[in-house]
Amino acid sequence: MAELLKPLVNSKLQLNNRLVLPPMATAKCEDDGKVTQEILDYYDEKSKGGYISLIIIEHSFIEKQGKAHKGQLSIANDNLIEDLKKLSNIIHKNGSKAIMQINHAGSLAKSSVTGCEIVGPSAIMHPRNSELPKELTKEDIKVIISNFRNAARRVKNAGFDGVEIHSAHGYLLNEFYSPITNKRSDEYGGDIFGRIKLHLEIIRAIRDEVGKDFPILLRLGACDYTDGGNTIDDCKAAVVEFQKSGVDIIDISGGLLGYIIPGVKTQGYFSNVTEEVKKNVSIPVILTGGITDAEEAEKLLKSGKADLIGVGRAILKDSLWSKKAIESLK
Ligand SMILES: Cc1cc2nc3c(=O)[nH]c(=O)nc-3n(C[C@H](O)[C@H](O)[C@H](O)COP(=O)(O)O)c2cc1C
Repeated sequence: MAELLKPLVNSKLQLNNRLVLPPMATAKCEDDGKVTQEILDYYDEKSKGGYISLIIIEHSFIEKQGKAHKGQLSIANDNLIEDLKKLSNIIHKNGSKAIMQINHAGSLAKSSVTGCEIVGPSAIMHPRNSELPKELTKEDIKVIISNFRNAARRVKNAGFDGVEIHSAHGYLLNEFYSPITNKRSDEYGGDIFGRIKLHLEIIRAIRDEVGKDFPILLRLGACDYTDGGNTIDDCKAAVVEFQKSGVDIIDISGGLLGYIIPGVKTQGYFSNVTEEVKKNVSIPVILTGGITDAEEAEKLLKSGKADLIGVGRAILKDSLWSKKAIESLK
């Protein structure tokens, strides 16, 4: 049997095959982040046929200050849960599992969108923004942990199969993780263990809230691919701690520069990272980035580079990609 078709059984999250739709922001929500018919139709179309075993919904903001852009999905209020149930239902009806990704945009947010002050680990300009953030106090950090916790509770109550913490692409948790944006002198800064202290507190708070059986995924912007940024060694140390604290699946992507590696176009361009991560943890690892052919996905799985394969833009362009890919391997 082809690797992509094999079920994932040795995991808290059981899956029919190894194909994942990674989170991709559609900006199809209402101003307050409520689900619209358009977004329901979009996920219905993408999950039709159940060929993708796991759909990770685009990032949703845990609080107004952490909203990344207009039209973004919200997980910031209990009154959103009923409509979010429609989203998990549609995906389940099509035969896939559904995860929500929860996020705080940190110093990548824009005050013109949030109507709030911009915040980050340190008062340092984000390389991809032009507003100087305020440095978060320890009191502010407590509120953020509690907002992540409440967001995860809502995800569970809305019928999703798990929650993904977003710590990639330059958003708040990535900013704490990266030495470029985190210059704190307290316990939330310094070496890699200081720079992931907030992550570990959030993971434990979520675990406490959702119980031991609810899957927690973490998307890590492993390396920054820029001078002074995170390297594979930081990532290796971090993922060990994430697993110890209760993360069930590690989802690898890029750091401050986003989901690409500048100038690199190979299919599975983060595979050297996922390969190293797999040597350091026993939980499943998702590899996403540049994959457009089922055969390439197959090769990456066969050579042990990852346990699950994310295909984003190819499926964004062609909703039948998953059907064709899965059927070509049968
Ligand atoms: C339009 C668009 C929106 C995206 N939104 C998110 C997001 O909300 N959260 C996230 O973690 N990654 C997001 N990504 C990154 C994708 O999940 C994925 O990592 C990236 O597209 C690379 O994979 P691919 O080459 O298969 O497309 C987005 C990518 C695109 C193209």
